Amino acid sequence: MKWTIRILLFSLFLYQTCFAVVKENFKECSQSSFCRRLRGIKPDNSNYVLNLKSLQVSDNSVESELWNSAENVKFKLVLTALAGNMFRLYADEISPLHKRYRVENVLNGEPQVERLEVLKRTEDEVIIQFGDNKAVLKAKPFKVEFYKDGTLVAVVNGRGLFTIEHFRTKNVQVDGEENQLQQEDPGAWEENFKSHHDSKPRGPEGISLDITFPGAVRSYGLPQHADRLSLRTTGPGGLDPYRFYNLDVFEYLVDSTMALYGSIPVVYAHSSSNTVGAFWLNPSETWVDINNSKDQNVVSSLVNLVSGQASESRVDVHFMSESGVVDLFILMGPTPKDCAKQYTQLTGVAPLPQYYTLAYHQCRWNYITEDDVTTVVKNFDEHDMPVDTMWLDIEYTDGKKYFTWDPIKFAHPDQMLMNLTSTGRHLVVIIDPHVKREGGYFLHEDSLSNDYYVKTKDGNVYEGWCWPGSSSYPDFFNPTVFDYYKALYSKLKFDNVNNDIMIWNDMNEPSVFNGPEITMPKDCLHHGGWEHRHLHNMYGMVYTAITYEGLLQRNPNRRPFILSRSHFAGTQRYAAIWTGDNNADWNHLAASYPMCLSEALAGVSFCGADIGGFFNNPDVELLQRWYQAAVWLPFFRAHAHIDTRRREPYLFAEDVRHRIRTALRLRYAHLPTWYTLFYEHERFGEPVVRPLFYMYPKDPEVVDIDNQVLVGDSILAHMISESGATTANVYLPGGSSEYWYDMRDWRKYAGNGYTSFSVNLDSIPVFYRGGSIICRKDRPRRASSLMHKDPFTLIIALDSNNSAKGTLYIDDNESFEYRKQKYLYIQFQFKNNELTSSLIDKTDYETLEWIERVIVLGAPSGVQKAVLTSKSLGSVDLETHYSDDALIIRKPGVSVRESFAVKLI
Ligand code: GLC
Repeated sequence: MKWTIRILLFSLFLYQTCFAVVKENFKECSQSSFCRRLRGIKPDNSNYVLNLKSLQVSDNSVESELWNSAENVKFKLVLTALAGNMFRLYADEISPLHKRYRVENVLNGEPQVERLEVLKRTEDEVIIQFGDNKAVLKAKPFKVEFYKDGTLVAVVNGRGLFTIEHFRTKNVQVDGEENQLQQEDPGAWEENFKSHHDSKPRGPEGISLDITFPGAVRSYGLPQHADRLSLRTTGPGGLDPYRFYNLDVFEYLVDSTMALYGSIPVVYAHSSSNTVGAFWLNPSETWVDINNSKDQNVVSSLVNLVSGQASESRVDVHFMSESGVVDLFILMGPTPKDCAKQYTQLTGVAPLPQYYTLAYHQCRWNYITEDDVTTVVKNFDEHDMPVDTMWLDIEYTDGKKYFTWDPIKFAHPDQMLMNLTSTGRHLVVIIDPHVKREGGYFLHEDSLSNDYYVKTKDGNVYEGWCWPGSSSYPDFFNPTVFDYYKALYSKLKFDNVNNDIMIWNDMNEPSVFNGPEITMPKDCLHHGGWEHRHLHNMYGMVYTAITYEGLLQRNPNRRPFILSRSHFAGTQRYAAIWTGDNNADWNHLAASYPMCLSEALAGVSFCGADIGGFFNNPDVELLQRWYQAAVWLPFFRAHAHIDTRRREPYLFAEDVRHRIRTALRLRYAHLPTWYTLFYEHERFGEPVVRPLFYMYPKDPEVVDIDNQVLVGDSILAHMISESGATTANVYLPGGSSEYWYDMRDWRKYAGNGYTSFSVNLDSIPVFYRGGSIICRKDRPRRASSLMHKDPFTLIIALDSNNSAKGTLYIDDNESFEYRKQKYLYIQFQFKNNELTSSLIDKTDYETLEWIERVIVLGAPSGVQKAVLTSKSLGSVDLETHYSDDALIIRKPGVSVRESFAVKLI
């Protein structure tokens, strides 16, 4: 066997076996020099002082000198008022030895500023205000208090942990001694982890900042972690801080604050009266400590009790980053919805995806030949199970050389693709960022000769190990590389494919099997001389931005679809994400809801988990439960590791097939709802899926619920994540005047909190909220593209006032014409026993879709008939009948384009 192949196999073996016990391969805070230093800062002893004599006031911001009195270093601090009730706090060194890294292209353009008013200005404090937001800057020690409508909601540096480690020279003798940092922490200037050395040519450059949220009872956000929805208290002696360092973690653990593939440093502090957010814009390695007063130990609660002090609840957050500037956004809320919208105002929304991308995706590592792909689809058809998209993992390439096809197993990709598209299906193929270092491979040759690769600290091309063996990594931060890569997606450069192929970007943390913590060394060099440490968490996002633009360049009128594993703030503008290499166990199923809900709060709604679990083989019960739960997450894809048994849903016994078919059909029936929600997300910035506290912020009982998800504001799903369940304890929120209709039998329940339901294997509890109108397509089809002309069923779930409303969005499902007013956005309303429809926008779009059936849940009894009136049909009597607790109105037959009314008589 050739040596290179031996080494390759050995490295794959290492990756897949020895790394199975993950923890030791990744740092804890105590093993990271900067985390140790910044976490070790003593509270209540801040040396930072604002020199308010230097204050400069402009229309939108105030700027002051900030002084580290202990080390006599000067910084610039700017506080800006932003439109939409946000503040931006920025701090940087005034005359640094080196420039500090400041990110570009993460925000969705420069945020709009707001005019502020200075209410008070002395040398001790400055008070500024805009709208009902107020900020008080205190000089000594430096502190900023934020008030919403007169209530103190956030304090920066309240605990005195603010620090900017200014650049300094190594080995400077101060009074005959080495500088203090060097003495205290030798790791500040160079550091080892396992066999890896980090040379740290610029020395320490960490930044730290604490925020206290008085009154908050919980905090949320900070994805990606395989943890609960509500953030847990971390702290020395307890849990390690939540870590942000995009990593390829083999067999990751659940209930963990360890870093994963993505980093979105936004946190929301919540109480029943206020929600406030903080977005820490920094792409370097970051750790975040959370301290929630509810988790205070018994001793301190006793002290409070004895001393008679009321212990006001609060959440303390401490951000610690390895480098960069302080760039913090305070999102003033005051509700979870306001905060989520404020965050997307800063970082952007996901553009409306193509309709089919919301349907079912079938993936596996790997479908091994063209025939395999065709046969799988055929089997889905034969078993009457819908599927829209087939996926090809790395084995479709010629020896892991991306942008090529295996000449034997995938010799006719055009033909294969045509087979798929002729039945309304699509294809997604994987393109990873590592480039195989093989002579004659165009990508490697081009990258080498044009100097496109990331360099080592010594200026040589960096070489690491990934799927192809020896690989190098393009420097996507170089604009020339960006443009070169973009062009690869055009037809010419990607042989034999047409516009129906979409892209999966994986391993883009980047994953380097033999690198420190399975990634690139921090002292590697990028365009502009920046070290990898400065921008690590953004590498994967920049890569997806290229793919997005490349696909647009290929076809400017087709909405790109990209799935990315690595992600950062702003990723939603380019890609969907998934929760990576999960395991086929109940805990990983349970983690899928909180993980995707945290992402949704952080702007990335288009999220899912590998159905069935990536590693290992799920038993049939777990597999069925996984499909049933996944129906209610935005990205709906089954995927499995190459060593697992085949588990395409048609392979099981008929009862299992039946249940999975039912789950798939339930998803397809609700595609109009998903599509409408994604449209509304683009337009209004709200997440597509939501945790309960989002919609019921005043209910203290919902703050820890993470096995339930709200799809928009009309559907509530409760996952079953344990084996053998015969009952489910579902929390129905909203109080006695809120109604919930069980999707299984239309029975009505009040929102009186925990309610026990019996369950069997056939389904999980899912409810429609009273007050909503849901538009479904109930005719089973093989793919979503075959449903576009199908008629709608309208489900009207009445609230306690016998009314309901809902929206429906329709367009051509694939192009950008909707941005030229080619769509319909329809409002349905039911009140006074009458259903009416109207167009929300004056737009025009031709469609053949019509209304086949109306089902009224909680309908008044004694209805004899329904009368439809519309311009084209005039006045028509419609048949009605009762079935269980629902009133069914047959065949209104009216086009959805037309405004109409249906009166119950
Ligand atoms: C990574 C991905 C996984 C994929 C595999 C092979 O482990 O997370 O989804 O199947 O690489 O490409």
